[in-house]
Amino acid sequence: MPGIIAPSILSADYTNLERDVKLVENAGAEYLHIDVMDGNFVPSISYGPNWVKQLRPETNMVLDVHLMVINPEKIVDEFADAGADIIGVHVEATPHIHRALQMIKNKGVKAEVVINPGTPVAMIEPVLDMVDQVLVMTVNPGFGGQKFLPSTLEKIAQLQKLRDQFDYQFDIEIDGGVNNETIKAAYKAGANVFVAGSYVYDKVDPKSKIETLKALVK
Ligand code: DX5
Ligand code: ZN
Repeated sequence: MPGIIAPSILSADYTNLERDVKLVENAGAEYLHIDVMDGNFVPSISYGPNWVKQLRPETNMVLDVHLMVINPEKIVDEFADAGADIIGVHVEATPHIHRALQMIKNKGVKAEVVINPGTPVAMIEPVLDMVDQVLVMTVNPGFGGQKFLPSTLEKIAQLQKLRDQFDYQFDIEIDGGVNNETIKAAYKAGANVFVAGSYVYDKVDPKSKIETLKALVK
């Protein structure tokens, strides 16, 4: 199965957002990755559900919403109502990960559990049977433009093994430091959804960057 590319609009030009969204959509990106930050779980503050609601009619891409937010169960309904297709919640951000995932599913939205680089796969084993996607952070969350952490590859391989063993259905997404080099090892380890921010949007020609990444995970 070919991999899916999910450009992160965290690295887009917000004064030309519509242009930057269309650019990656026309280049063949399937998902649009939206980084929601609360200034608590991570230092930065980004955007909220209203922003997703306004974006929804502008694109046909799958809206892949990554909540870097403490106690996400308080706001998952709002993001679902805003039109998110996938909602990701960090296991480190709530004592109620099972409830948070259940709430997402009850809204008819795809549920994703996310783990930081310092969190072992064992932490999410009890919920692997109920998720549509697992996001393995390949940098510490909070900022674009960081370096890919190779130590996370082992966790991707572990997840793939568990999926085979128990016949789970989830996709494996990675986020952070993805470029034309790092994507290769992650794909080989078993990831199939690839978030890329600065590699796609910094400097020139996002279109050719998407094409390059797509060709590497065919
Ligand atoms: C980091 C965010 C990422 C970020 C990735 O906290 O979750 O989605 O946009 O950016 P790059 O691809 O530049 O590492
Ligand atoms: Zn993200």
